[in-house]
Amino acid sequence: MPNLRVNGERLWATIMETAKMGATARGGICRLTLTDADRQVRNWFVRECQAAGSAVTVDEMGNIFARRPGKDSSLPPIAIGSHLDTQPTGGKFDGVYGVLSGLEILRTLNDADYTTSAPLEVVSWTNEEGSRFTPPMLASGVFAGVFERDFAYALEDRGGRKFGEELGRIGYRGRVKCGDHKLGAYFELHIEQGPVLETENQTIGVVTGVQSQSWYEVTVTGRESHAGSTPMHLRQDAMVVCARIVEATHQVALNHAPLAVSTVGLVEVRPNSRNVIPGSVFFTVDLRHPDDAVLRRMEEEFKVVVNGVAADMGIKVAVVNNWSSPSVKFDEDCLGAVRAAAGDLGYRHRDIVSGAGHDAVYIARVAPTAMIFVPCEHGISHNEEEKAEPEHVTAGANALLGAVIVHDNALRDGA
Ligand code: GLV
Ligand code: MN
Ligand code: MN
Repeated sequence: MPNLRVNGERLWATIMETAKMGATARGGICRLTLTDADRQVRNWFVRECQAAGSAVTVDEMGNIFARRPGKDSSLPPIAIGSHLDTQPTGGKFDGVYGVLSGLEILRTLNDADYTTSAPLEVVSWTNEEGSRFTPPMLASGVFAGVFERDFAYALEDRGGRKFGEELGRIGYRGRVKCGDHKLGAYFELHIEQGPVLETENQTIGVVTGVQSQSWYEVTVTGRESHAGSTPMHLRQDAMVVCARIVEATHQVALNHAPLAVSTVGLVEVRPNSRNVIPGSVFFTVDLRHPDDAVLRRMEEEFKVVVNGVAADMGIKVAVVNNWSSPSVKFDEDCLGAVRAAAGDLGYRHRDIVSGAGHDAVYIARVAPTAMIFVPCEHGISHNEEEKAEPEHVTAGANALLGAVIVHDNALRDGA
């Protein structure tokens, strides 16, 4: 491996620059997909990639590709990517770290005047988070042929605004067909978003795969009525039904401890007035487990819970399974490149399975893929306080660069 190292200070400064776009008062970022803040960071990213000499294209899903030529233009590109969108109370690293490490690699290779055999592409995928528009990993999913473009365009946020129109509004509904070109390999760098690496004092997680997950939307329909004058036995209180399902759903994950998790993260109560008995409640359920078979059992238990509570309370509960993603195993050659790079760089590393979803989940269906994790403080993420050590941020980007070079050398040598 040539002696290439990223410029850690420049990468850190770049991450802090993007953290101003959508900055929250509490030090986090609110950059929901296809909002004005998303447009701002995209415009910035496109300018910086062009300044680094890359040719930028935007596809019809708003995915941004910055291409640096290789020696052999007949080879499909080695792609590096992640996402620039955040949760409503997101941190400075989730997603953006992987994209900006790609940008830093373009700059590092320019500084070293180093040309890879295969072209490189740094990719920003649209709507990884799935917070504003569901499902998550949407545009990498369209790229991989999992979702149709028009299915994505028709999706609505909770305010009724359509994905396709919002993409046009921010100027990122490109012309290039999504998924039109082959990727030779895909590497994604991310903070771990969990406590394992920090606890074990490891620098690099070699991400061997991603656990399975399933998302549900639940609508409870009761009857609005007066909080003061409706006796308890005559109420159809949608919120009480919701509360019972939430508690029981929590228990479903506890039944499959320690690896199962379940979350009710979004709840909308109508009419949301303190002296009206809630007439309807909409809420979401996120179930995950590394083992597909266990996740299926959890889903069955969850449905039994819902039906039981609905029957007990005599209230209508509608459940929609709006997204599922089976567990994923990454490519052994790409993982080998990550291990080799981490080893050459002298970084402590271990294999790890991702609890979070990532664009790599879908890209793994169309290209050999691997991911790299670095520790984040107390494993906290999806939180404005998300933090990562500059030393780890630099190490992750070096491991990413190293893995790309190992993979590229193998292509050159015909391995
Ligand atoms: C994406 O951030 C997820 O929910 O795992
Ligand atoms: Mn992410
Ligand atoms: Mn996230």
